Amino acid sequence: MILVFLGPPGSGKGTQAKRFSVDRGIPQLSTGDMLRRAIASGTDLGKSAQEYMSKGSLVPDEVVIGLIRERIAESDCRNGFILDGFPRTIPQAQALDALLRSEALKVQAAVLFEIADGVLVSRLTGRRTCLKCGAMYHVETMRPRKSGVCDQCTTELVQRDDDREEVIRKRLAVYHDQTSPLEKYYREKGILQSLDATQAPDAVYASLSRLVSSG
Ligand code: AP5
Repeated sequence: MILVFLGPPGSGKGTQAKRFSVDRGIPQLSTGDMLRRAIASGTDLGKSAQEYMSKGSLVPDEVVIGLIRERIAESDCRNGFILDGFPRTIPQAQALDALLRSEALKVQAAVLFEIADGVLVSRLTGRRTCLKCGAMYHVETMRPRKSGVCDQCTTELVQRDDDREEVIRKRLAVYHDQTSPLEKYYREKGILQSLDATQAPDAVYASLSRLVSSG
């Protein structure tokens, strides 16, 4: 099972991908998480990615395609994977198709998380993340048991550097300009499946499960 989760920043791709990954036993491949790990480790790749990410721009295609090429070659991807935040441009989608084709594989479904921009700003400004285990919270809608501390590993929660309102607005503009053309790309391949991402997380998960099993 190879799934692409497509949708604007804050639409809930990461939240749903984490749960789906645990339930189905296939890894979540998030290019955003990979890049943030590279930044935290201080690698050259991380230093260069940070310049793009802090402004809300996309990291160059060849960098993220390289990350995905290496990651999908790992053994835990043998039974499938969920791509969360990749591809984000037409050249990335074409590179993914070529990579998969060389292994006689293909994307089973591209799941579009549909939601209006207005909801996303408050979702993202309220998001708090655990940098150690990757768990995600929201200061109003998904609070940790103890304020500011991760339920799973008791690490202090932080606000992502790009979850500031001016950067969020830039990320939304970048999504509409560079990523939304992928909707047409996958629709024309007959594998685009849309879900209503404004619902509560459990309802979104139920829609996702239905849609993937019917696809
Ligand atoms: P990335 O990390 O991929 O961020 P994003 O796509 O902008 O998506 P987010 O992680 O912000 O949102 P999400 O949809 O996963 O929502 P979440 O579940 O967290 O990318 C960051 C940057 O890295 C990019 O800007 C770019 O620079 C670079 N990058 C990454 N991939 C790249 C690529 N392929 N090419 C080039 N550059 C790349 O939820 C958000 C909040 O809402 C949380 O607080 C959550 O608790 C809450 N929430 C979730 N679901 C619900 C719900 N149903 N109801 C209420 N609240 C909810």
